[in-house]
Amino acid sequence: MHTSIENLLNNQIKYEAMASMQYLAMASWADAEGYNGIANFFYMQSEEEREHMLKLVKFVNERGGKVIIPQLEQPADEFSSLQSLFNHFLESEMFVTEQINGIIDECLKLKDYNTNNFMQWYVTEQLEEEATARTLLDKLNIIGDDNSGYYLFDRDISTFVQPHEDR
Ligand code: FEO
Repeated sequence: MHTSIENLLNNQIKYEAMASMQYLAMASWADAEGYNGIANFFYMQSEEEREHMLKLVKFVNERGGKVIIPQLEQPADEFSSLQSLFNHFLESEMFVTEQINGIIDECLKLKDYNTNNFMQWYVTEQLEEEATARTLLDKLNIIGDDNSGYYLFDRDISTFVQPHEDR
């Protein structure tokens, strides 16, 4: 495995781990605020990000690369509103998408078609996750500043999100 690809994949392991911990902090915040539906949503997102990280760890090992399990900074754990919480979610996903695109660029440059092929799963995943984040933010923007709207959003959040079969 080319060193620059190995480095990028190790960075990605870190970003997926960061997302997992960030979503865990967001789940915990929502739990403490009494938003059980939103808490469950982020507990599940956190698990998914951990799976994304693991998939990369296993791939780098299979390809004979050296995996570095990263040290992480403490994630944000205070949010001023649900809008701010979900904005954070969208920004986090957009950041991850950018990094994945960077890996694909490098794979094509170095003709590493195997890693490119592996990373296509992440490209599709990011499309879905960004779409989910945007849908939820759109709904919150419609609700505006209305507590009964937040109550319904929290109650119905699981129905706003399509289940994914291949995760
Ligand atoms: Fe695995 Fe949503 O980034």
